[in-house]
Amino acid sequence: MNIIEINRENLIHNVNYFKGITKAKICAMVKANGYGHNAVAVAQILSNYVDYFGVNNIDEAIELRQNGIKNNILVVGVFEKEDIANAYDYDIELTVDNAFRLDEIIESNLAIKVHIAVNTGMNRLGFCVNDISDVVFRCKNSNVILVGIFTHFATADMDKEYFDYQIKSFNQALSLLDTKGIIIHASNTSGLSDKRVHYDMVRIGIGLYGYGNKNLLPVMKVKSKVVAIHKISKGERVGYSNGYIADEDCYIAVVPLGYADGINRHIARRVYVRINGKLYLVASNICMDMFMVKVDKDVKLFDEVVVMDNADIWAKELDTIPYEVLTGFEHRRFNLIVK
Ligand SMILES: Cc1ncc(COP(=O)(O)O)c(C=O)c1O
Repeated sequence: MNIIEINRENLIHNVNYFKGITKAKICAMVKANGYGHNAVAVAQILSNYVDYFGVNNIDEAIELRQNGIKNNILVVGVFEKEDIANAYDYDIELTVDNAFRLDEIIESNLAIKVHIAVNTGMNRLGFCVNDISDVVFRCKNSNVILVGIFTHFATADMDKEYFDYQIKSFNQALSLLDTKGIIIHASNTSGLSDKRVHYDMVRIGIGLYGYGNKNLLPVMKVKSKVVAIHKISKGERVGYSNGYIADEDCYIAVVPLGYADGINRHIARRVYVRINGKLYLVASNICMDMFMVKVDKDVKLFDEVVVMDNADIWAKELDTIPYEVLTGFEHRRFNLIVK
């Protein structure tokens, strides 16, 4: 009854859009279960269109391998010592971001493929620029197979000055190295409008899922069905804490999704859902497994409810970003449909 629907055509439209604006290799970011879309489904659709998949951790990488994904896979987050043997067995590329984790890889004596993360100002993961020559030297003189070097931008879409500062720091790190045969990568979706940062590969996340510019098409729809309808009079109350008081005689439709499914409680009285092409307000407070919508006589039992098909709208109402909206749904409680 509750469905997360992934639109294959829109996903392919989005990846082709990016292939049209860059010649660089594409690393499709499918971390956090493919930004909440189902990483395996997304990777299976994109496997012939992209070079790499980017995940956060080794478990996400292994899940892709176990589901037949043969592309290169890069873990952009941190790994634990126990993950190193799996990285070798499953041919997964790891990010090295500090001396401690580089030591662990070297001590493993396994031929592990790595990408060096450079901290150019995000201050999340990565070696500082001045340490890079030394790190590369250690990689080249050990069991490590140095595949790539990258940085990550904190502000590509909002603070040009800081963006330029990060580019300058990254280029400075690169200038100290012989980068022949090493994949250089930096840009996320919002950096892509600047050709300077395309380098050899771009890591695209949110754009693939349809957000970031107006040429892109949203890939995810969250759908449900009306499971009960009540005719109520002006002044009647609806839901916990009398969350809605009817301002006129109306109908109330019950939708079997709640905060346990990842429906944010703050959408109440702010967000509209679509039933038979018409928008209706989420009226009541969100319950654990249900919410109620103010509807009219046109809505019938078991009508389809499009709960979310534009994460930008939810993000605006919830004072957050589409990333958080998309990754917020509790997949175990939905059926996945790839259309
Ligand atoms: C290291 C890294 N690269 C690339 C991306 C993709 O960013 P975006 O979704 O903004 O394209 C992310 C996402 O957070 C990331 O952490």
